[in-house]
Formats: sequence, structure tokens, C-alpha cells
Amino acid sequence: MKLLSKLLLLALLVALPTSTLVAANTPKDKTDKEIMRKVDALMKKMTLREKIGQLIQLRPSEGDITGPDGEQLKVEDFIREGCCGSLLSVASPDEIMRFQRLAVDSSRLGIPLLFGHDVIHGCRIIFPENLGVSASWDVEAAERLARVSAEEAAAFGIAWTFSPMCDVSADPRWGRVSEGSGEDPYLGAAMARAMVRGYQGDDLSDPNTILACVKHFAAYGAPQGGRDYNTVDMSERMFRDRYLPPYRAAIDEGAATVMTSFNDFNAIPATGNKWLMRTVLRDELGFDGFVVTDYNAMHEMVAHGVAADGKEAAAMAFDAHVNMDMVDCDYLMYGEELVRERRVSEKTIDELCRAVLVAKFRLGLFDDPYRYGGDRYETAMYKSENLKIARDVARKSMVLLRNENDLLPLDGNERMALIGPFGDSGSEMLGSWSAFGEGDRSITFLEGLQERFGSENVAYTEGCKPLEQIEGGIDAAVAAANGADVVLLALGLPNKCSGEAASMTSIELPQPQLELLDAVAATGKPVAILLVTGRPMDITDEVGKVDAVLVTWHAGTMAGAALADVVSGDFNPSGRLTMTFPYDIGQVPIHYSMKRTGRPMPSPDARAKYLSRYLFTPNEPLYCFGYGLSYTTFDYSDLKVLTPEVKIGEPVRVSVKVTNSGKRDGDEVVQLYLHDKVASTTRPVRELKGFRKVALKAGESKVVEFTIQPEDMAFCRADMEFAQEPGDFDVWIGHDSNAPLHGGFTVKQDIRK
Ligand code: BGC
Repeated sequence: MKLLSKLLLLALLVALPTSTLVAANTPKDKTDKEIMRKVDALMKKMTLREKIGQLIQLRPSEGDITGPDGEQLKVEDFIREGCCGSLLSVASPDEIMRFQRLAVDSSRLGIPLLFGHDVIHGCRIIFPENLGVSASWDVEAAERLARVSAEEAAAFGIAWTFSPMCDVSADPRWGRVSEGSGEDPYLGAAMARAMVRGYQGDDLSDPNTILACVKHFAAYGAPQGGRDYNTVDMSERMFRDRYLPPYRAAIDEGAATVMTSFNDFNAIPATGNKWLMRTVLRDELGFDGFVVTDYNAMHEMVAHGVAADGKEAAAMAFDAHVNMDMVDCDYLMYGEELVRERRVSEKTIDELCRAVLVAKFRLGLFDDPYRYGGDRYETAMYKSENLKIARDVARKSMVLLRNENDLLPLDGNERMALIGPFGDSGSEMLGSWSAFGEGDRSITFLEGLQERFGSENVAYTEGCKPLEQIEGGIDAAVAAANGADVVLLALGLPNKCSGEAASMTSIELPQPQLELLDAVAATGKPVAILLVTGRPMDITDEVGKVDAVLVTWHAGTMAGAALADVVSGDFNPSGRLTMTFPYDIGQVPIHYSMKRTGRPMPSPDARAKYLSRYLFTPNEPLYCFGYGLSYTTFDYSDLKVLTPEVKIGEPVRVSVKVTNSGKRDGDEVVQLYLHDKVASTTRPVRELKGFRKVALKAGESKVVEFTIQPEDMAFCRADMEFAQEPGDFDVWIGHDSNAPLHGGFTVKQDIRK
């Protein structure tokens, strides 16, 4: 090819907007058309640098930013220069107002800033950590959490939350399991949808709604060894079948933004991964909002070893059509240079900038830059109706794992000893990423129990610190136990052992707490463990020493009140595990929907050696996905497959009778699992494909009907198409992922097609 035609071709390629970006920012309605018109008009006035400026997110609390020449640049200077589109983690409503005024009054075009924050399980009022919320199996609870969070965040001045976290994970060594909805894609998708609805409502211009952010795209929940930020290496098929569904659901629900993940995926860091960001996110999922990197994730491509320096990292991220650069400033430092060198087209910058401006217009920030925050801050926080919601979500999240001799609920006539490092700590109730939560506003377990049972009936002693002994702690605990009729032992892991950069190779109780437990158990008093944790734990050796175990999670601002509701029986526990509690850490990663393998267990010849099993440890976990007790019992019968034979594309209807066979009213989480018996790829032994929370009075029965949609039977087939296949299916409905009640149906090929 002649040099001239080569250059022409190059120019053409650089000038052409790519298909993925053209798809972005399509007007949704008349108002949106008007918005697009306004954005076009504004962009005509903007310089290239100002457009790149909209792609920059800074964090004032990080201090000054070091420029390319080593000079120290102030966030304020960036804002004045119109080189900052967004700030994250600004500490107070006043500061937010101050920065907004600076942007509006002092930058050339007065473009308002977008304030983002990690409001992931509450803003001031803190709800349980998200893993706990998912254990409620109550999508409305998740939606209410998000709505209350949005209302408080908006009053604080925040218009954008970095939530929901949609990372499926089966590895409790990874601390960030606390932020997600557990190991199951189907439940995770339902929770993600609910949270997007809660944050964004159906009108972003409503001053109480905020932008949601689907994170961390993608597959961040599968780091090797459970070590945070570590390599993720999985097949595309595994990604599509298990990891993609919650992200997809949140995007279908209209989530306005997406965050890249820190990890590499198929050896390319997500922030520069064109396949993830363009082919999957934009083209396949049809995402038309804007993408922000995770914290410093652009520049980290240098450490990953795929970019020689910040400039190359920026080039990769531009090429992946990532809109916003969180804190590292490579876009600002090198964006113009990359355009001058024709490595990035101005058109691309325009489209990336357009998406950010569109979001700001949709939020109404151009009509009133101060609509978030302001006077309403005073009245919006800790509203009593919202505290009630937080209490309700917290009690719904608690999971009763063991209750020998019906130790719980307590009738209130017992003398109680509350013992343990989590018994009277407000701050330890908040969990990780607790936004603007205030420990001293939390109701501690002690306060909640004393309020419910009378302070004279509940004695408290700490026993030990979460990770350390205290002198005389054990003696005091033993004395307290001896003086009581029943012991509530608040054990677990502190906030700092949950969330980001909190990976652990042991998920057992810390040694000082094990010693406390042994000493208290040795008194022979009935003991209930209240397990405060943001992750599944290895409690196999401990459960047999006590009568009851209630997982409370880090239950948030209303922890103590919610606990008292459950312990007293005012509320009958209905939480069910959404992550497997392993029998042994060596089983991890572990989840209920593993594949059968060619040498499955259980086997008719259980003594045979060459089976997929461990030598000295069972394959089964301690507590499986979906497990959780109630103060009543539920029986299942009459599983009916109402459509035993369907064609591809047709739904399947199944019903079951559920009876409350105990003496108390209660809520049951009715769970439906499928198994595709013979398929073109190996399929999980079971997959959750339906659930319903049903309230049943003592003695009452209800018939619960499920409709399994064709897409619920679809999977990434051998030909890589995500679609159904004909064949026979098993279906189980019951109390957890081991539900024995079984039926079957057949999906036939539609021969007309
Ligand atoms: C986390 C994100 C978070 C971001 C902003 C990162 O370290 O991975 O989940 O949204 O910081 O605070």
C-alpha cells in the first residue's frame, strides 16, 4: 500500500467513532433528547483539556497530586481549571458544597462536579454488610436498604454510589465477600437488580435518587488463593455461566455506571481489557452509561506489567473506552498528548466525555448544582422510619445455624450473661465500608438485650479483645457464666477482618476467643454463640461445644435491637446462608453448585479410593448454601411438575406444598434447584433457579408455584452460545440446597424450528 493511502486509512480509523461508543448515550425519551442537545451545545464550547477534565475523578483527602514534573498540584487548582469531573470520598456536606461552589463559580464553564462515595450498606444509618442482607433472601429488603442509603447520601451531597457489588465469590478467604451477595449468580442477580432500583428509582432527576455503579467488572470475586487483587484466570464459559449474571442483571435494570476491577482477566487487566469493556459490556450487554476505573486501577496496569508507564496505561484504558479515571490522573497527564499523536481520536474523547455530562444532566445538576446536600442534611439522617427499616433488615439477615433443645428463643425469665468482645461495641457492628456510620449511634448487643429483657437480667463481661487476651478476662467470663442461666457469647471477626485487603488463610475464630469459648463451655451452662462476621467461618470444632449458633453478621446501627428481636422470639429467624460454611478451610473455594466430575461423590462404593474426594475430610460443608433454622419447622410435600414436557422456549411450571409444622408463625425461604441431566457441557449438580419467601402461620400450609423461564435453563453451550438445549431436568424444591424432594421434566426440541 502506498504511504498516502496508508495514512488516509489510518486517519479514517482514528476519526471513525467505534460502534460501541455510537451505541452509548442514546436518548431514552423526549427529555433525554433535550439533554443530548444541551450536551452537544456545551461540548462545542469545551476545549480538549476540559473534555478530558470531565474524565478525571480526584480524592481531596488524598492530598495534593504530583504532576508529571514532580510539582504538587492542588485539587482546588484542577477544579478551577475545569480539569476535574468528579470527586470521591469528600468528608463532609460542607466540604461538598465548598467544592461545588468552586467548580460552578470559578471554572470557565461552571460544570458541576459529581460527588461519589462508597455508600454500600448505608450512609449514616448502617445496615448489615451486604452478605448479611443477601441472607435475608428478601429482595425488597435490599431495595429498601438502597433507597434509604440513597436518601441519606443525597442529603449529604452525594449523587453517586459505588454499589452494588456484583462479584460472585465462593472463597471465604477473600475479605470482600462481605460486600457481595454470596456464591450464587441467580440470587446475586436478584439482589443486584433490587439495589439498582433502590438507588436510582425510576427518575434520576428526583433529588433522592443517586447513580448506581455496578462493580467490579469483572470477575473480581475469583482471585487465586482468595488473595485480594490477585490474578483471575477462568474459562470464558465459567465467566458467562457463573460470574456474569449479576452484572448483567444490574445493567439490565438500568445501572448508570460500571466500575472496572483491579484484577486481570485472561491476562489483561480489566481496565485495559477491550474484550471485557467493549465486546462484553458495551456490545453484548448494551451498557450505555459511563465506566469508571477502580481506585488507581489505570496506573496499576504498569505494575501488572502490561503498560510501560502511565501514558501507555492511559492509551490502553482509552482504547477500552473507559470513561473516568479514578484518582491516578493518567488521562489528564497524557490524554492531550495521545490525541496529538493520533493514538486516541478526539472523537473518542468526545464520546467518553459526553457520557459523563449526560449523567450529570440526568441528575439535574445543571439545573441546580446544589440539589444534593444543603439544608435537608439536618433532617434527613437517622429518620425513625429508616431506623425501623434497618432494624427489620438486620433481623431478617440473621441466620440460626444450630439450636439444640430449642435453647432459643429465651423466654425472659433466665438470668443472662452476655460475654465476648463484640457484646458491647457499637463500632464493631458497622462492618467494613461503613460510609459515614457512627459507632456511638449503634445499638450494641448489650443495649438491645437490656432494653428488651431489663438491665438487671443481662450481665456483661468482655472476656477478651477480638484478637487479644485481656488480663483476668477469662476468669471474669467464667464467673459471669456461673452466675447465669444462659450464656450469649458474642464472638467473631472484627470489622478490619472484612472487606478490602482483608484476605485470610484461616477463617477460624482467633485464638483468644477460642480459649474464651472453651472456658465458658466448660461451665456446663447452655451457650449460644452470636457470630459477628462478614464472611463464612470455619467453626466445625466449635459448634459441638455449644447449644446454639446465630450468625448476626456485622448487623449495623440497629444491631442490638435486631438481635433482641431474634433472641426473644419477637421475630422468628428466617435468614438462610448465601455462602457455604466449609467443614475445613482446605475445601475452599467451595459452593453448592459444583460439577459432578467423572468420579462423583457420593458413590455407591463409598470406600473406593479413586473418587473425587479428600483423604481425611468429607466433601460436604459444615452448613450448605440455603441453610438456616427457624423457631418452627417446615415440611415439604406434593411436588408437582405441572408441565412435565415442554418445548424449547416454553416455561416450566412446578408447585409444592409447604406446611408450617411447628408451633410458631414463621417465614420460610422456599428454594427451587435445577439440574440439566445430559448437556453438551458439564453442568452443576444443582443450580438455584427460583426462590420465594413465604409467611406461614403455625399449622398453615400453602401451595407455592414457580415458573421456570427458558432463560433460567439456558447456559453457555459447547458451541459458546448462551441458549437452551433439549433434554431431561431434575428439579428439587425445599429448605436448602440439599433439598431431597424431587421431580423431573423434559425439554423437547421444537421440530418446527
Ligand atoms: C475499591 C472500590 C471502591 C473504591 C472507591 C477501591 O479500593 O475497590 O470498591 O469503590 O476504592 O473508594
